[in-house]
Amino acid sequence: MALLQHEELIKEGLATLVIPRLDYYRRADGVVEPAWMPVFYNPQAVLSRDFTSMFLIYAMRGKGFFFVDALSGTGVRGIRIALEAGGVGIINDVDPRAHYYMVKNTKLNGLEGRIEVYNSEANTLLNNLVLTGMIVDYVDIDPYGSPSPHIDSALKPLAKEAYIGITATDTGTLSCSYPYKALTRYWSNCVKLDFEKEFAIRLLISNVVLRGGALEVALEPLLSLAYKFYVRVFFKTTRSAKQARRLVEECIGYLWYCPSTLERGFTSDVNNPDVRCSDGTKPILMGRVWTCNIQNHEVTSYIAHLAHKLDWVSEESKTISSLIALESPINTPYYRLDKLCSTLRLNMPSPAIVVNKLAELGYKSSRTHMDPRGVKTDAPYDALVEVVRELAGRR
Ligand SMILES: C[S@@+](CC[C@H](N)C(=O)[O-])C[C@H]1O[C@@H](n2cnc3c(N)ncnc32)[C@H](O)[C@@H]1O
Repeated sequence: MALLQHEELIKEGLATLVIPRLDYYRRADGVVEPAWMPVFYNPQAVLSRDFTSMFLIYAMRGKGFFFVDALSGTGVRGIRIALEAGGVGIINDVDPRAHYYMVKNTKLNGLEGRIEVYNSEANTLLNNLVLTGMIVDYVDIDPYGSPSPHIDSALKPLAKEAYIGITATDTGTLSCSYPYKALTRYWSNCVKLDFEKEFAIRLLISNVVLRGGALEVALEPLLSLAYKFYVRVFFKTTRSAKQARRLVEECIGYLWYCPSTLERGFTSDVNNPDVRCSDGTKPILMGRVWTCNIQNHEVTSYIAHLAHKLDWVSEESKTISSLIALESPINTPYYRLDKLCSTLRLNMPSPAIVVNKLAELGYKSSRTHMDPRGVKTDAPYDALVEVVRELAGRR
């Protein structure tokens, strides 16, 4: 294929892609700034795309499926889905320059018979699909910023049982740097917490689940990622008012949090009167948020195994898939060990040593992919503090 001088050819996963020449859009620190590019391609999202293909290999188990990559940029995600997970589908972007790259890349990968390229507004396309009666097994929403404008449309063309992957890059709002925006956009009161990445995931899930409930679609989160500038959640969707109600009743609730001690817990009761922080202060109540697990252990174990078998999966994705599998059975939000030690006025022990000690004592415990300083454990707060006190200063 003839390349223009401002284009380059790259390999990602099993795909070969023409993209704008990355060197033209590198910042002084060497990082590519995709927002400067005529069409969006972000090398830092390779992990997100690796996990998308692996999730679909898990979810579809070799069966044919139809997908819509609604905000596709160069087409990379949809093209990888077709090549790596075996789907047929639509790749779409509203920008005509993106359409040029999507067409080129579809041809380059020999996918003309399996991928249709659209140049439509995403909500228009998704709503039109409902009218055509086309049944979709997977929708991918990977926007700039918040996915909010696309969630309702994305749920409408889905089959009775289907899957959806949603990215959010407005992590400042989701992790409560902007509490008023978090309230209006995601319908939750909140404050900044030590486990801000996990809070972002829990807030995104709760909002999507509540919006799904309004459309009688039950959304069960199976896999969640927090990486660099984005969070991403993959859901199983079921058209069932009953299941949607059950999920809201069982898994949408409140989080109580003590900023002075970092104690935390979930409650379904907004009036939750009984909890007190160990220093006598009153906890802050936040919500509504997702209180059930943000990962499904069967899915995360499968994907960790798969990641190590597939040579097109990046090394970073292999490492992170293992971490996610280890942390996935633990529902308590991770503790930032540096912040916990700061409240206890202790030197921070190594997170790995704390995790091992907790495991020796019979608790579930793990590092977390969300933060290198984080420890996830089902140990009660007092037991964790005792371990940290014992290990503080030892390296
Ligand atoms: C973050 S980029 C997508 C990246 C791509 N999914 C990937 O993995 O490389 C978001 C894309 O959405 C497109 N876009 C923005 N608003 C849109 C809309 N309302 N409908 C369709 N495409 C839209 C932009 O042109 C941009 O290419």
